[in-house]
Amino acid sequence: MLTFIVNNKEVKTNAPPASSLVDYIRNELHLYGTKIGCREGDCGACTILVGEMAGGELKYQTMNSCLMPLGNADRKHIVTIEGVNGPDLTPVQTALIENNGTQCGFCTPGFVMSLYGFCLNAGKEKNLANAIEAVSGNICRCTGYKSIEKAAAAIVKKLQPPQRGLLVPPQREPSGPMPGVMPMEWLVKNKFLPDYFLAIPEKLKKIAPAGAAAVRESGYIVAGGTDILLQNPEGAMTSGNVNFVYGAREYKRIKFADGKCYVGSTVTVKDLKESRELRAYFPRLDDDLKLMASPPIRNMATVGGNIANGSPIGDLCVMLLALDATLILRRQGENREVKLKDFFIGYKKVNKDPEEFIQWIYFDLPDENTRFSFEKISKRGHLDMATVNSAMGITLAGDVIKKAHFAVGGLGPTIRNMAKTADYLLGKKISNQTFKEANLIAQGEITPRSRAEYKRALVRQQLFIHLMSFAPGAISLEALQ
Ligand SMILES: Cc1cc2nc3c(=O)[nH]c(=O)nc-3n(C[C@H](O)[C@H](O)[C@H](O)COP(=O)(O)OP(=O)(O)OC[C@H]3O[C@@H](n4cnc5c(N)ncnc54)[C@H](O)[C@@H]3O)c2cc1C
Ligand code: FES
Ligand code: FES
Repeated sequence: MLTFIVNNKEVKTNAPPASSLVDYIRNELHLYGTKIGCREGDCGACTILVGEMAGGELKYQTMNSCLMPLGNADRKHIVTIEGVNGPDLTPVQTALIENNGTQCGFCTPGFVMSLYGFCLNAGKEKNLANAIEAVSGNICRCTGYKSIEKAAAAIVKKLQPPQRGLLVPPQREPSGPMPGVMPMEWLVKNKFLPDYFLAIPEKLKKIAPAGAAAVRESGYIVAGGTDILLQNPEGAMTSGNVNFVYGAREYKRIKFADGKCYVGSTVTVKDLKESRELRAYFPRLDDDLKLMASPPIRNMATVGGNIANGSPIGDLCVMLLALDATLILRRQGENREVKLKDFFIGYKKVNKDPEEFIQWIYFDLPDENTRFSFEKISKRGHLDMATVNSAMGITLAGDVIKKAHFAVGGLGPTIRNMAKTADYLLGKKISNQTFKEANLIAQGEITPRSRAEYKRALVRQQLFIHLMSFAPGAISLEALQ
């Protein structure tokens, strides 16, 4: 039986745990404020808040309830638009109305919930750029967005810094206080949220599991569900033998040991994006991962899921291939390791048994001579899969390349590990000549299945950008002529 809190009410249900949360919210709880637009994670109409106790602190993040398996709601606080309503309109709702940010209203609950995600996200500065990023997964057909941007700006203004004495002291990362903390007391006092929110931590503690959720050894693995609920593979939803791993805390962490970085498979894209430790090694990580999906999908999508689904355009897969990553997998008590470059064997086919669990992904930590670059071209700037994506990692000895890995997605059934191009680069200095010769080899390594000429041009441009980012003065635009 699943137990969770929806708005101010505890719910217990035996509904199928692999069904979609939005259906439960609308069909069983009759809360119709949460809308269904696309059922594909693309429109944001179904956005809700999901609150969870982590490290003694209640943290909320937005999720798309159309792709969220009901089982992932277990022991959590689910907040729908009805759950933020009070006797009067809240400051978030008022800002949308006063700035003409709503017309037909179909998208509005989703926008409101995404803006609440911004208000409640302790790790984000309360500025306009972050408010706009929070709604980057919401689509509106009526208002033209400018009025919604104005509403976002008004909300930023209303979010005054927390007052002394009201701050709930959350457990901080060792590197210092997080920016943009907006404690619950302040939001309740200023009528952003109803009073009942203050009692949620105690209620959640009562229904929280005694120990950390362990990963079972069998069953169809479901993590964030963003792929599974999109594709609804036959059997997985109805068999009942489902292995929910999203909550497995053991693998929801990034650890560093012996010069290597170990990323747990249930770490989400948001966790990666916001990891201060990783950003110290990969300064562009935040910007790179902004190109991946939308905030609610990034909050749900796990690293393990991105790898295991074997998509030929998976952004994390391309990045991890360029870091020459290795997977640690577990099945029936046995562990084995597989190099990521040997993992992708066909379109959405990977070198693993369906019940085999990816525990960790590890790679050598970059040193001061290592350079890393990721590029992605897609039709839209946000919330779009890649047309072509690629990543390159190199290690230099002086100005000579002594290690290189290059991976390209979007060209065929699997992501391409560009071993010949990488081998060619060994022992070379970055120059126009090196780029031209590397490009000739790269073009020989690829056989784009569609729009071949266009995709070949994208590979060439991305190779150029990688090399230029590694040695800006050593290569010039003339190389492209
Ligand atoms: C709207 C939208 C936009 C997207 N945009 C992008 C994008 O820009 N770039 C991109 O790369 N991807 C994108 N994706 C894909 C998304 O990132 C992946 O779907 C996600 O990472 C999968 O993770 P998950 O936890 O949701 O996996 P799930 O859906 O839970 O599982 C996917 C598959 O992986 C298996 N699995 C999951 N975890 C494990 C594990 N630890 N061990 C073994 N098997 C496992 C499952 O059995 C299943 O077969 C997008 C998806 C959506 C819906
Ligand atoms: S209904 Fe469109 S994102 Fe869920
Ligand atoms: S107000 Fe009509 S879709 Fe946004």
